[in-house]
Amino acid sequence: MEKKKTSFGTSIGFELAAAGSAVGLGNLWGFPYKTSANGGAAYLIVYLACILLVGAAAMLAEFVLGRRARANPVSACKQASESFGWFGLAAVVIPALIMCYYFVLGGYTVKYALNSFAGNAGNFPVFAGNAGDVILHTVLFALLALAVVAAGVRGGIEKTAKILMPTMLFILVIISSFSLLLGEGVSEGLAFYLRPDFSAMSWSGALSAMGQAFFSLSLGCGAMICYGSYSGKKVNLFRSTAVICILDSLLTFMVGLAIFPALFHYAAVSGVSPAALGMGGMGLMFITLPMVFADMPLVGSSLSLLFFTMAAIAALTSVISILEAVTQFVIQKFKIFRTRAALLVTAVCVALSVPVGLSFGAAMNGESLMNLFGRNLLELLDMITNTILMPVCALFACLAVGWIIGPREAVRTIAPEGDGKAHRLLGLMLKLVTPVLIVLIELFGIFDLIMPLENGVRRFSSGGCGIVVCAYGVLLLCALVYFAFLKNTNTGNNSDELLVDALEAERVKAGPSRGWYRPE
Ligand code: PHE
Repeated sequence: MEKKKTSFGTSIGFELAAAGSAVGLGNLWGFPYKTSANGGAAYLIVYLACILLVGAAAMLAEFVLGRRARANPVSACKQASESFGWFGLAAVVIPALIMCYYFVLGGYTVKYALNSFAGNAGNFPVFAGNAGDVILHTVLFALLALAVVAAGVRGGIEKTAKILMPTMLFILVIISSFSLLLGEGVSEGLAFYLRPDFSAMSWSGALSAMGQAFFSLSLGCGAMICYGSYSGKKVNLFRSTAVICILDSLLTFMVGLAIFPALFHYAAVSGVSPAALGMGGMGLMFITLPMVFADMPLVGSSLSLLFFTMAAIAALTSVISILEAVTQFVIQKFKIFRTRAALLVTAVCVALSVPVGLSFGAAMNGESLMNLFGRNLLELLDMITNTILMPVCALFACLAVGWIIGPREAVRTIAPEGDGKAHRLLGLMLKLVTPVLIVLIELFGIFDLIMPLENGVRRFSSGGCGIVVCAYGVLLLCALVYFAFLKNTNTGNNSDELLVDALEAERVKAGPSRGWYRPE
């Protein structure tokens, strides 16, 4: 009974759920536009190398923390070392912050998928500027995530991943095959994507690829600690990490195969240069692609429907891991029944995502609403979490496992049946290589915020400075709250959910009268 409720049922279920968390808007939205801004194939190669060098080891570290403790991120980090528990709290706060903008973007994908039925995916600024529409679709998307998480790890998250991940792969195969068959412009698109031109790649491009690999694997935010805590006892986490990284890289690669040939084809037939299509900009997915689909005779609207359905699926399987990481903590710390905990977390994050959606919508229409430090709220939250907080959190996860738990014990947790001399390599990666690379990502991210590149020159930005201070303020707050309220209290573990369930069952059995009248 215990095992049944608080862990994934099969290793493939666990791997698909974690890969579902990894493959998200980062792959579909972030990767293509950053690739096109940084010279195509060269960026792809650096990105894949980063998955291997930084991503895999950090993912293993997070899985180890979760699996050793079989508990939420706070308890998991606390178990490694009491004085490290504060970054466990950060690993619960970060997903809550990410949720506030991921709900909005997920809502956009739902809206675009629904619009595609009518033939045209949508006009981005018009949709983004319509407050009612943005809120409606944000809520719709959040409700989907809530339904999955409320159904539990096995009955909700695992089942959903087993259905949606193969569906997503299938759709991606169809779209990329179509894209490759478009004819004119396809070979130029493929050359751009697959023939490396390292002269177009700068150091900042390489570091951006590292950050992108990091975000794409859902590291540094509690999601993988949480999923690791639910991994079945017999699962070999070396194997699972390999499967997840390969699936994430494969799907990312295929997204490029779907997008670049189609873009270059559109550019060729409409007689514009690919650069004029906004290739290197954030509008690639929500502005340029709908234009490309709308212009394709016959299959355009079907492809658009498929693409945005896939985007909605990718966003959903990611957001459920974020929602679960926070919900798991709320259930275990406050002993609240799962459905209620998930509802509470979703409601708070939806309420916070409303101003985020409105601020972003205004920005897309050239206006400024509730901007802070010169950024709209969505961009601001993305920078705080993705650029600054997530690398810090992953860094501490690597240090905790590499230096405190130790590589031998880590390998015992990763592969219960033993894995030869793997601890030597793992130790080197976790103690040194990965932390150094993560510190580089962090420092570059901060430098780029404080001294952004504008028209080829770096200039000091007080807004960027404000963002850095704000992000470190969040960390400081996590540390204060942890040392004041959590360090010496019980923060729960996975089996607490069973206890909460038993209490809830008793409450239901007692009937609705309980509370004001208790039968003796
Ligand atoms: N990996 C997801 C993506 O690529 C985003 C994500 C980040 C999901 C952190 C969970 C946790 O979009």
